[in-house]
Formats: sequence, structure tokens, C-alpha cells
Amino acid sequence: MQVIRSLAQARALFDVFGQPIGFVPTMGALHEGHLELVRQARSECTTVAASIFVNPMQFAPGEDFERYPRDLDADCVKLTETGVDIVFVPSDDEIYPAGFSTAIDVGALASVYEGAIRPGHFRGVATIVAKLLNVVHPQVLYVGQKDAQQTAVLRKMVRDLEIPVHVEVVPTVRDSDGLALSSRNAYLNAAERAQAPSLYRTLLALRDALEAGMSKSAAIQRARSELGSLAVLDYLDVVDADTFEPLEAMRPPSFAIAAARFGATRLLDNVWMPHG
Ligand code: PAF
Repeated sequence: MQVIRSLAQARALFDVFGQPIGFVPTMGALHEGHLELVRQARSECTTVAASIFVNPMQFAPGEDFERYPRDLDADCVKLTETGVDIVFVPSDDEIYPAGFSTAIDVGALASVYEGAIRPGHFRGVATIVAKLLNVVHPQVLYVGQKDAQQTAVLRKMVRDLEIPVHVEVVPTVRDSDGLALSSRNAYLNAAERAQAPSLYRTLLALRDALEAGMSKSAAIQRARSELGSLAVLDYLDVVDADTFEPLEAMRPPSFAIAAARFGATRLLDNVWMPHG
């Protein structure tokens, strides 16, 4: 696996690697969820590229940018073992040189749910991913269903701006107790970790109640009782999969989405609503 650090190196290299190129952007602290994206890219593409960059633009002041887990050596071992050909590890200065000021805003989709709680977050995500796509020039971009709203934001950006890449969404990988894998799970203490799978159970309970014909407000009320006592719910809702507009009833394609804080750690999850 080649590790490259500069934009100039990246541009030269990606032009000579075989196509299609599958690209997995990450912020490192890699777990099985990321590796599943790599495995799917490996099975579908000639060249597999990944990036590791903890993107300051998508963190608000006071969020966990400084303490976000970083372990480049361990990440490189995992990427090599999973068959990545090139990993791009740029510095902050390469990505955001002095005078950098452009940003991508996909509109209303970026200002609800995660976007309402983390203003500017999706602006940072869309901007870095657009920049990385312009450097790597992949044919396929691999993203995880776990971050459903981020996935919708990136699909919208690609559609609206005619970026020539296919966005492939890979299903969420879960621990055996149902907890969706996330780099932030490492922040949970033992009691929080024990209760964290209740977020997934809450979503399943919401889906079951809606399937049984309950109204959305009654279904949400019932589902909330699944949440562990340590959890503080930020939102629990059923939304259109593309626009994230709230839906009153199940209408595919839609997701049940939830975010909750367990102590200082925010966890997100979602489940697809059945396709009728
Ligand atoms: O999902 C992430 O890890 C990040 O938001 C991404 C897509 C790598 C952009 O920084």
C-alpha cells in the first residue's frame, strides 16, 4: 500500500492507477464498518483508495476535534490487510491552505436533525468530500448507511453538481448486541456501553409499532421506553430517505432515525422502513 501525503503526489498517482477507482474517505480510527466499505470497494474496483483526514471544518468549536481518536499506524495495518492500494493522508495545510474560503452548502437537508444540532457540520463534510473527489477522481465513492444524513447530503451534492461519481451506500455493521460501529464508541464508559444498544432497540420498536398500524406519535412514545436510563434523546423520527423531511406514516424510501447522548458521547443510528 502506498501512503501519500501531498496533493501533487496524489494527482500524479491517481492518474496512472487502473480504473475503476473505488474511494473510501475516512477520519481514521478505523473499525469493521470502515473495513466493510473497503471490502466492497475491493470486490468491485480495480484500484481501492482511502483517505484519512480528521477534517477540522466539520467540527464546531467545543466539539471533539482535539480528542478525536487518531492512530495512523494501526489504521495503515488494517487498510493494508484489507487490500487498499493507496491511502491519502494529507495535512491540514494541504487541504486548507492560507486563504481557503470556499464551502459547499446543499441547502435545507443540511440544516435539520444532525445539521440543526451541529450547525455547519454538513458544510464541512460536503466541502472536504468534494475536494477529495477532485483529487482522487474515483468512479465510485463508498459511504456507510450508519451516517444516513451524511450519505443523503453527499448524494445530493453529487447529483446537484453533476460530479461524475457513483455513490455506493454500504449497510451498517453492528456489534453482536446491535450497537452500530462508530469510532466514537471508544468514548463510552462500561455503563454507557452496556446501554448503548438500546438506541437500536428503540428504532426497531418504532418500526414495529408503525408496522402494527400505530400513529407516529404513539409509536415514538412507545419506542422511547426502550432507551436506557443514561440516554438523553436528541431526536427520534421517521423521515424521507432523500430529503429528511419528517413523514407522518411509512412511505418508502424512508428511515427511522435517532440520535442520543450517553454521557458526553453522541451516538446516531437508523433503520430502513419496510418497502411496503
Ligand atoms: O464519515 C466520516 O468519517 C467523515 O464525515 C468523512 C466522510 C470522511 C468526511 O470527513
